[in-house]
Amino acid sequence: MSENADISAVGELLGEANRVVILTGAGISAESGIPTFRGEDGLWRKYRAEELATPSAFHQDPKLVWEWYDWRRGIIAPVEPNPGHKVLARWEEIFPEFALITQNIDGLHQKSGLKNILELHGNIWKMRCTEEGTVTENLDSPLKEIPPLCPSCKALLRPHVVWYGESLSSTILQRAFLLSSQCEVMFVIGTSAVVQPAASLPLSATETGAKVVEINLNPTPLTPYVDISLMGKSGEILPLIDKNMKRKS
Ligand code: OAD
Repeated sequence: MSENADISAVGELLGEANRVVILTGAGISAESGIPTFRGEDGLWRKYRAEELATPSAFHQDPKLVWEWYDWRRGIIAPVEPNPGHKVLARWEEIFPEFALITQNIDGLHQKSGLKNILELHGNIWKMRCTEEGTVTENLDSPLKEIPPLCPSCKALLRPHVVWYGESLSSTILQRAFLLSSQCEVMFVIGTSAVVQPAASLPLSATETGAKVVEINLNPTPLTPYVDISLMGKSGEILPLIDKNMKRKS
């Protein structure tokens, strides 16, 4: 099928659907200027994310890990949602049951106005006390102190994100699997689909009969299992789908 036929097939799917779930990864924010994890511009100094986003890296050198997060926060702070984010925010208003599950920690879906968001991997603008577990929002960029300390007990604060080797919140994960298994249409956008358990969510959607649409620059391990694969930039493809969507209401 040609790309145009695929776009109108997706437009038709959405014309009928009530329960729509979206799973996003770093690719959706790439056109806003945020480097993806596995892209070539994802490196900081000589480190890969897998070396710094770990409990042991933080234990060994909290200052280094916070410097990396401060750098990432500095990149994200001035960034605006792109047309892809904006289409998804609009869809939240249109579909009777709409949910967005994201692996991103950048907060750009919130910035685009979307409300119903399940953040699988946390949020870079939140910090958690390593002693008390209290979660607070902190929008400072650059940070006023590195590493930041808890204002009430002076213990180290850590980014409120999920690191390699850590478990995701079971409440959030259960909800994500439930939504995926109950939706009619699922979009998988801008994720390399190699990090579990997020990469299994679309499979639970296909198993229960949902149509799965993937939008990515490149094929992923998920591509053979999806119903429609659209290769290209999500910031261009999502507005095209939106334009071709045939909804009665
Ligand atoms: P990756 O960096 O692994 O993958 C980004 C994906 O987006 C790739 O498949 C690209 O081809 C695609 N892509 C890039 N630009 C795009 C664009 N403009 N439009 C559409 N697709 C585009 O990022 P994730 O899959 O999100 O986890 O990574 C998953 C998790 O791995 C992250 O949440 C993070 C990381 O380790 C944790 O930190 C726990």
